[in-house]
Amino acid sequence: MSSLLKIITDKRQGREHSFADLEAVSRAAAEGTAPDYQLAAWLMAAFLNGLSPREAAWLTKAMAESGERLDLSSLPRPWVDKHSTGGVGDKTTLVLLPLLASCDITMVKMSGKGLGITGGTIDKLNSVPGFRTDFTPEEMVRQAKDVGCALTGQTPRLAPADKTLYALRDATGTVESRALIASSILSKKIAGGAETIVLDIKCGSGSFMQDLSAASALRDLLVSIGEELGLTIRAAVTDMDQPLGRAIGNALEVKEAIRVLRGDEHGATRELCLALAGMTLEAVGREASDAVRALESGAALQMAMHWFHAQGADLDVFDEEDWQTAPVVEEIVWEGEPGWASRVDARLLGEFARDMGAGRLTKEDEVDPRVGLEVLVRVGDRVEPGQPVLRVHRGDREAALDSGWLGVSDVAVPARQLMSDESC
Ligand code: URA
Repeated sequence: MSSLLKIITDKRQGREHSFADLEAVSRAAAEGTAPDYQLAAWLMAAFLNGLSPREAAWLTKAMAESGERLDLSSLPRPWVDKHSTGGVGDKTTLVLLPLLASCDITMVKMSGKGLGITGGTIDKLNSVPGFRTDFTPEEMVRQAKDVGCALTGQTPRLAPADKTLYALRDATGTVESRALIASSILSKKIAGGAETIVLDIKCGSGSFMQDLSAASALRDLLVSIGEELGLTIRAAVTDMDQPLGRAIGNALEVKEAIRVLRGDEHGATRELCLALAGMTLEAVGREASDAVRALESGAALQMAMHWFHAQGADLDVFDEEDWQTAPVVEEIVWEGEPGWASRVDARLLGEFARDMGAGRLTKEDEVDPRVGLEVLVRVGDRVEPGQPVLRVHRGDREAALDSGWLGVSDVAVPARQLMSDESC
């Protein structure tokens, strides 16, 4: 029996793997030495029979070691990375990276393209004229040394086992395993050199964790893997039943992030970024209040301009909003009875934005950086007939919005809590 066949059979029978077993799976995935059908069979066995927290930690380590590891030793500590499980209108990275870098934290981050309704940071930054997202790992480290932060697209040189296994999970219905998700996320972070990782686990209709117990269980597993592997992890479970902040869509989200950095926007995006920045600062022994100071003094904005310039961007984007504008902008007004917004559905709004071209249904689809939405109402707000509730930035793709995206109640509704009390 080949060793991979034995490993598959062991998991099919519910036995626990050793580190050597998981290293063998990871090596086979990284080096292409096993056929896809064996890896797929192992994934299904692991999905159905589960991986213990110890196995998940070992798989994470094995995948992190399956390729190169970014050497950050020439950069000042602390080294921090940030990850969001993905949501609608989630532009926190665009604010957090320069905000934390302006607090003397080295931020080196690899981000992905979006798929489905959750936009990818790379798509957002690609909407900025000139911004390069194709840095090599060496260029990233050089830039982080000069500037304090750097961001690029994912490279197959880091954690190549995850690249293979993730593609197979996508094709075999095995994405939604907590252990596979957690090891996939953390292996890439470890390979990227981070020692402290701040995780934003989205929970609600616009994310892949629909309820608090599933999101909390993922958070607990991520924290336990981190502890096992000697990382400092801070993890928040945050609301994704309604979109984050005002903008959905690539250029629109960058513009909102810039407004937050300039001090011109005081909504949920700013609030969440300050909360996540505060958690990160405390994790590395600093004061959470440093984040507010960096934002209010303009230090974070200065850092963002320095970062954008270093990555080739046209800095006019910081002064003007008339770049990547959609050809048609129209407002939707509320035509029902007066009341209070009780539902602003992230999934329905995300699907509408995606169908207009803000996101993609398949990896090959092209995004339209100009299109998207400005959500003018949040849960708990008073809504009157004739009031504009949504601004639609349309390109050339036809799309329809499900009218159920906005619910209005005739009794007052409290605002939604942005961060669950169970964050740690
Ligand atoms: N993000 C990842 O990087 N991997 C997963 O499996 C899910 C989300």
